[in-house]
Amino acid sequence: MPHTNRRNFLKLSAFTSAFLGLPLADTYARATIEEKLASIRATKLAQGNSVMGLKVAPIEQVKVAIIGLGNRGPGHLNHLLSMPSKAKVTAICDIRKERTDKAMEILKKHNQQPAVYSGTVDAWKEMVQRADIDLVIIATPWEEHVRMGVYAMQQGKHVAIEVPIATTLAGCWQLVDTAEATQRNCMMMENTCYGDEELWILNMVEKGIFGTLTYAEGAYIHDLKESMFSKTRYYNQFRIRHHIRQDGNLYPTHGLGPVAQYLGIERGDRFNKMVSMSSLQAGLTEHSLTVEGDSEFYNQTDFVHGDMNNSLIKTEMGRTILVQHDVVTPRPYSRINALAGTKAYHEGYPSRLSLNSVGGGHHWLEEKDYEAMRTKYRHPIWAKLKKEIEQNGGHGGMDFVQMYRLIDCLNRGLPLDMDVYDGVDWSVVMPLSKVSTELGSIPIDFPDFTRGKWKGKRPHGIMANL
Ligand SMILES: NC(=O)c1ccc[n+]([C@@H]2O[C@H](COP(=O)([O-])OP(=O)(O)OC[C@H]3O[C@@H](n4cnc5c(N)ncnc54)[C@H](O)[C@@H]3O)[C@@H](O)[C@H]2O)c1
Repeated sequence: MPHTNRRNFLKLSAFTSAFLGLPLADTYARATIEEKLASIRATKLAQGNSVMGLKVAPIEQVKVAIIGLGNRGPGHLNHLLSMPSKAKVTAICDIRKERTDKAMEILKKHNQQPAVYSGTVDAWKEMVQRADIDLVIIATPWEEHVRMGVYAMQQGKHVAIEVPIATTLAGCWQLVDTAEATQRNCMMMENTCYGDEELWILNMVEKGIFGTLTYAEGAYIHDLKESMFSKTRYYNQFRIRHHIRQDGNLYPTHGLGPVAQYLGIERGDRFNKMVSMSSLQAGLTEHSLTVEGDSEFYNQTDFVHGDMNNSLIKTEMGRTILVQHDVVTPRPYSRINALAGTKAYHEGYPSRLSLNSVGGGHHWLEEKDYEAMRTKYRHPIWAKLKKEIEQNGGHGGMDFVQMYRLIDCLNRGLPLDMDVYDGVDWSVVMPLSKVSTELGSIPIDFPDFTRGKWKGKRPHGIMANL
């Protein structure tokens, strides 16, 4: 069906141009676009069996290596150190020695002496060849994720990679192909899927509280101007450079991950197509005049990334999802976290719920009714890990729950909650939204990374294997 629509759309464009008396786009350009769009949705030949539901032998104590110890890596390190019977950090790496030195200060407090690698851009390669590693956690700048993940899997290691798992379509396929060829786990570390609010909603969805799901909204709305211009906050100021290179949704997974889980994406439904549109770019250019004169980005006028990007996804079952991205507007943080069903509606920031059964859903539930729903449908893992969550925290506790589940599933030989197909589905919104915005917000078909296996209903690991 999507293929026919694409041809129809292009015919329509030509027809519309003629109708409006505009010159037809030249045939060669249209053929090139058609080829590009066809290559985006094309499914490649598999290099191994699907890793959907992959089970590997239980690992009693998971031996972990970490690459990248900037803002994010030390949090992962601390969580691992809080579960010594389940996991042990055997090696760490950061290109900057000062970051491994800092991590060693933490490790020494726990009497741990892992192997340390630093100093060169490829020091991590030597590390992941070690025999005493089961799992490699990758918390480096976005551009490094694919080459590090692919190489680590080729060395026989499982990988857990920070968000987004890849920034290009080719990178997404490389991860899928390598996971299938090596039969290794490749999980994207989407911590928002483990939030108290998000797991509560997932639990309510599974219990039928929302009825039939129809649409959802997710976002990454986070004013990062100061951080992006800072010379020290991110390695090589990697985030702001993306705003010069590309338009689209640069960070889709925090908002989209939980929403995709509510909708059972790759579990009976899939993302079908997307249109993406960006606003005017103004925030970064204006801010660039307020930073130090010796900043590389002082008075920068060629940012191409619009301040707000809206991407609209249609699923195979006909549901729609709005995904927003805005990291420059002075406004409070939000991932929106909205979900609509025939019997209930939820909206986050702050979390509110309306139910058809209470006043026809015309008002948000009163606090005591809302709290009663929170208590009744709280995901059991939040009760089970209450003490550990209080002690370890991390974005309100979801970081700890994520690490606990990752390690616990490996300890018990269970499939991981999120597989490589989830990671690439949610991340590919970045390159596809770029293409859509570039081509005037035209619909772009999603590739089917599962090669047809999305059709089967299957339970979420976090719901079925506690
Ligand atoms: N899930 C979340 O809530 C969350 C929060 C923050 C960051 N992140 C993600 O974590 C990742 C890292 O972000 P960050 O804020 O920690 O960035 P950062 O720049 O602070 O840290 C990245 C680290 O990687 C190191 N590095 C760079 N190239 C390397 C190489 N070739 N070999 C070894 N080390 C190398 C850098 O020295 C740096 O210490 C990103 O993907 C980001 O999107 C996720």
